[in-house]
Amino acid sequence: MANLAINGGAPVRTEAWPDWPLHGKEEEEALLGVLRSGRWYYAEKVKEFEAAFAQFQGARFAITTCNGTAGLEAALICCGVGAGDEVVIPAYTFQATADAVLRANAVPVFCDVEPDTFNMDVDSAASVITDKTRAIIPVHWVGLPCDMGRIKELAAEHDLAVVEDACHSWGSQWKGKGTGALGDAGAFSFQLSKNITAGEGGIVLTDDEELAALIRSFTNCARGIEEPWYHHYRMGSNYRMTEFQAALLLAQLGRLEEHTRRRQENALYLNGELSQMPGLTTMREDQRVTRRAYHGYQLLYDAEEFEGPARRRFMEALRAEGVACRGGYAQPLYRYWLFQRSGEGREYCPLSCPYYGRQRDYTEVSLPNAERICRESVCMGHRVLLGTHADMEDIVAAFRKVHDNRAELLEK
Ligand SMILES: Cc1ncc(COP(=O)(O)O)c(C=O)c1O
Repeated sequence: MANLAINGGAPVRTEAWPDWPLHGKEEEEALLGVLRSGRWYYAEKVKEFEAAFAQFQGARFAITTCNGTAGLEAALICCGVGAGDEVVIPAYTFQATADAVLRANAVPVFCDVEPDTFNMDVDSAASVITDKTRAIIPVHWVGLPCDMGRIKELAAEHDLAVVEDACHSWGSQWKGKGTGALGDAGAFSFQLSKNITAGEGGIVLTDDEELAALIRSFTNCARGIEEPWYHHYRMGSNYRMTEFQAALLLAQLGRLEEHTRRRQENALYLNGELSQMPGLTTMREDQRVTRRAYHGYQLLYDAEEFEGPARRRFMEALRAEGVACRGGYAQPLYRYWLFQRSGEGREYCPLSCPYYGRQRDYTEVSLPNAERICRESVCMGHRVLLGTHADMEDIVAAFRKVHDNRAELLEK
């Protein structure tokens, strides 16, 4: 008789996982308060949220934006990135990291990531720096801070701006200091899937007063502070956040500390249990990371070492046991059509920009760790980590059950 749920056995669990997004009275009152006030536009709530989030991350200045992509773009442009520049980014990230570079008229250059953190491999980053490199974007992948000590050393050596893609790292700390202002500036996302959300939204943090003023101006139609309303000083855009978003985020921020603690505790338990199973590589723990957000729980599955089926079948079996999981990105960014077909005509400016004056052939890029992660990664969303300790025991039991009964999944 079959044991695995995928073959008709009883599943480890049938209960639902915690809902996302979460909301309560706080959010309802916050939204109604703004609605009734009639002040819906970039005012007190935005200011209040900027101050609260800056304090939460330990940064001096915060500028809200309409989303994380806009925040990254604004930070890059205000750090001086422009036409003809190259920006080093990891190959395993969301497309927005590359988009922000292109929107700043610059050229993304991919480096590899580490297989046990999924974060930028600093040696690989160093190997792709050229005389055109102007900035580097460490992405704190699913909340794990990158090795900011080495990244800042590399940046100082080559005079590069460091713009953190902190879009997953609300609450994360590197050696006691929050992400976002560890480099020159960093951008966070509050899109619906994120650990603190207003549906959409973003914020840029920095400790540099001049840079903060520039980013404020850029994201607010290039206005000056305390200057006439219709004076515009440079190219800018409208990347403002609304009062509704800020009010919602203030309510959400009230839960973030406790949620971060719970996700971290659950993830550490899973690391301890799952790392003991053959063929599973959990993410490396790092003592320099003094607190970390988990925007999901991700590990690598090596079918051969596990003596199990291909990843797709393995995940189907886990899902049948009641564990919500998926594979993550199917390919590193450079494999997407945008980069594989790059350079054909004006739509590909900045890649074909005369200021750049070089050709970059992304079809030649091949980064083994990023490609391995795309083949082997198994991830569970952050809401799973909001479960109880018993829920985590169910996850471990499901992985063990699939391992113990793996013969049921192999072709006869
Ligand atoms: C790593 C990373 N960077 C940037 C972004 C962009 O954030 P937003 O969707 O708020 O523009 C995301 C969003 O998912 C992301 O995952």
